[in-house]
Amino acid sequence: MSANVEPKRVDSDVPEEALNAVLVKSVPLPAGTPIIKGYDFNKGINYHALLETYLSSGFQATYFGQAVDEVRKMLLCRRQALPEDKEDDSFEEDEFIKRRSNCTIFLGYTSNMVSCGVRESIKFLAQHRMIDCIVTTAGGVEEDLIKCLGHTYLGDFALDGRRLREKGINRIGNLLVPNENYCRFEDWVMPILDKMLTEQKEKGILWTPSKVIARLGEEIDDQESICYWAAKNKIPIFSPALTDGSLGDMMYMHSYRNPGLVLDIIQDLRRLNSMAVKAANTGMIILGGGVVKHHICNANLMRNGANYSVFINTASEFDGSDSGARPDEAISWGKIRMDASPVKVYADASLVFPLLVGETFARQYHAEKDKVESTV
Ligand SMILES: NC(=O)c1ccc[n+]([C@@H]2O[C@H](COP(=O)([O-])OP(=O)(O)OC[C@H]3O[C@@H](n4cnc5c(N)ncnc54)[C@H](O)[C@@H]3O)[C@@H](O)[C@H]2O)c1
Repeated sequence: MSANVEPKRVDSDVPEEALNAVLVKSVPLPAGTPIIKGYDFNKGINYHALLETYLSSGFQATYFGQAVDEVRKMLLCRRQALPEDKEDDSFEEDEFIKRRSNCTIFLGYTSNMVSCGVRESIKFLAQHRMIDCIVTTAGGVEEDLIKCLGHTYLGDFALDGRRLREKGINRIGNLLVPNENYCRFEDWVMPILDKMLTEQKEKGILWTPSKVIARLGEEIDDQESICYWAAKNKIPIFSPALTDGSLGDMMYMHSYRNPGLVLDIIQDLRRLNSMAVKAANTGMIILGGGVVKHHICNANLMRNGANYSVFINTASEFDGSDSGARPDEAISWGKIRMDASPVKVYADASLVFPLLVGETFARQYHAEKDKVESTV
């Protein structure tokens, strides 16, 4: 039935009270209020067109569409010239924290993002220098390196923990990692820790988590690795809790075998905060919660808030956790600017992040590449 044809009613027997309750008159919604409409598959299968309709689809699909818009704003801002007073960063001796564009992008992700296939999307961003700074937890570093030494396999959430333990197989959700991979990691990393300790003693190098990660990225020398590309492209990876994972286990054992290695987390804090303070504009893309979310947001407090923000996580705010806090809570702390339009997508990032990269960074990368190739 057409929307503007008055339905014929035979309502003489209907109680007036019920009629008035059910058929309450509406005031018209403001002009321009988006109309809910999804993708029409009669148009063929076009994933870009499908994802474009998410903005007007409602629920988390709409937040996904808004996240795409927010990341596009970061990329647009990045392409604009730096303001005159921010142009010269030549006095900065630390190549990793030098201001490179009009929008410094901070990417944060929990360890499991690297355990799963999101690793490849993150690697793409580091490989093509589309982000400027990474914050992750220990697993986010070691899982990347370990994947260069042995595979992670698909399993099932329901596999029995006791039986897996008997077989030396570790489970991360529905992923399986043979314990053998961690043994290989030990063989690989121990001599590097020895070398770092020697350099500390002989050359006076004061190691920090980000400097250790850059060194491990150089040593792994594998183009599949996020750490490799980050080290090569001078993108710092900060991990204030670097000891909370297999790397920590190795450092613990190393402290008995060859004691004395020191990690300075304050030097790293200064590097991270300096990146935020000196940035012309900043964008935050944070997958998951906990340390990675707070560490990036707190750095942005040092500049009175980020200009652009996208949070993708499954946490809710009812328990008062920082993981679940909506962007509005970060505005109250000065971690996001008052005039910003931050977005939170409530979703598993393994589902959403590759799509977000596809609609933004990768789309821009391939459009520019095609343009260059067509002019050659
Ligand atoms: N593979 C691993 O996960 C792994 C490996 C080694 C060590 N660790 C260690 O375990 C500790 C805890 O890990 P963590 O701090 O990286 O994060 P976490 O796994 O504890 O997650 C923190 C919060 O992020 C959100 N989140 C997590 N996964 C998500 C997803 N797929 N989509 C959306 N939101 C998600 C949830 O709200 C979660 O409560 C760390 O110290 C880490 O180094 C983890």
